[in-house]
Amino acid sequence: MTDQSDTTDQSKVALAFSGGLDTTVCVPLLEEEYDYDEVIGVTVDVGQPAEEFDEAEETAEALGLDHYVVDAKDAFADQCLDAVKANATYQGYPLGTALARPVIAEAILEVAEDEGCTGIAHGCTGKGNDQLRFEAVWRDSDLAVIAPVRELGLTREWEMEYAAEKDLPVEGGNEGDWSIDTNLWSRSVEGDDLEDPGYVPPEDIYEWTETPGQKEIETIEITFEEGKPVAIDGEEMPSVQLIEYLNDLAGSHGVGRTDMMEDRMLGLKVRENYEHPAATTLLNAHEALEGLVLTEEERAFKKQVDQQWAEKAYEGLISAPLVDALDGFVDTTQKKVTGTVTVKFEGGQARPVGRESDYAVYSESAASFNTESVDGIAQSDATGVAKYHGFQSRLANKVAADAEAKKAELLTDGSGESEE
Ligand code: ARG
Repeated sequence: MTDQSDTTDQSKVALAFSGGLDTTVCVPLLEEEYDYDEVIGVTVDVGQPAEEFDEAEETAEALGLDHYVVDAKDAFADQCLDAVKANATYQGYPLGTALARPVIAEAILEVAEDEGCTGIAHGCTGKGNDQLRFEAVWRDSDLAVIAPVRELGLTREWEMEYAAEKDLPVEGGNEGDWSIDTNLWSRSVEGDDLEDPGYVPPEDIYEWTETPGQKEIETIEITFEEGKPVAIDGEEMPSVQLIEYLNDLAGSHGVGRTDMMEDRMLGLKVRENYEHPAATTLLNAHEALEGLVLTEEERAFKKQVDQQWAEKAYEGLISAPLVDALDGFVDTTQKKVTGTVTVKFEGGQARPVGRESDYAVYSESAASFNTESVDGIAQSDATGVAKYHGFQSRLANKVAADAEAKKAELLTDGSGESEE
């Protein structure tokens, strides 16, 4: 098992560390199975709840692990708000885990390089997306990439036994039955009973969202500048704070629950549950503002650009040259996405109910029923357009009907002749 690792003098490996079962068992395994002299654990803050850092800290201490915590919340929030510009969702999921992985991978790589590590490791299994997202970043470095859980074919059961045998500090109780991944942009709940697509989730899987419809209806105003949300009800907020504020508020209205079948990169179809109140609110508001300021052609083309953007984000390939090129289009369109959207929280929805912008491609006099002519174009000028509209379809239908009739006529004529 030493072929994957570089074992030159006092070799050190940096491990993406959460303090959960997978990453905890990785610590002794990296020493025993991969011959590293030292393991350092790195936990990257992308907005997980405080308890997760406590758990990581405590576990690291109990393991005698050198533990680094890197704050990447601002970088991650920027990434999330870039995703809003591209209206990014994958099969309905706003990509919280997916967007976080490259940010986490970069942060760990930086620590690994600073600390003179020769290896870099994660505790992902060989079934999920995260292994691919991490390694897409890490394989761009000279470090040996190690995935003990995948490479040694570990199961959760084996890990529990191993942990007990080695007396490793695993609580196992923190997560309860579910496998949970939380960051600023979304909370994902999967595993156990939820794996069955037919199993109806109990209300207690939700932590960020209240049962919809219990709170009084409320409206807020979100201000965007060049596609980026900058203020709520006129109050400017830094990105992290704005997202946290909306997670609380929209979550209290039960906004942003997704229960879906997700097609993973390796082809597995899995059942996923997500909570993402801020993401839903911002994505809905942003799209509503685009509807006001972009031309019909821009909107139609942007749908395709957005789709491609979201797919690369899902794959963890946000650094792909394609994404750079897509961003060129996105950023050009976003120059006009400045204005304010009113959003109503009602029945578990964040529904845009008003929008305003100096860039509105909207002329009241042109659209109004009360004006006869605009820019020298009179209502009656539409007559010519109306005459032509659908011309080709009408012609095609008529030609086809005539041809059918002709064919039928030939057939009856033919049979008549042969009788004589
Ligand atoms: N399926 C999602 C993704 O690949 C999220 C998985 C989160 N992990 C978890 N243990 N809940 O982006």
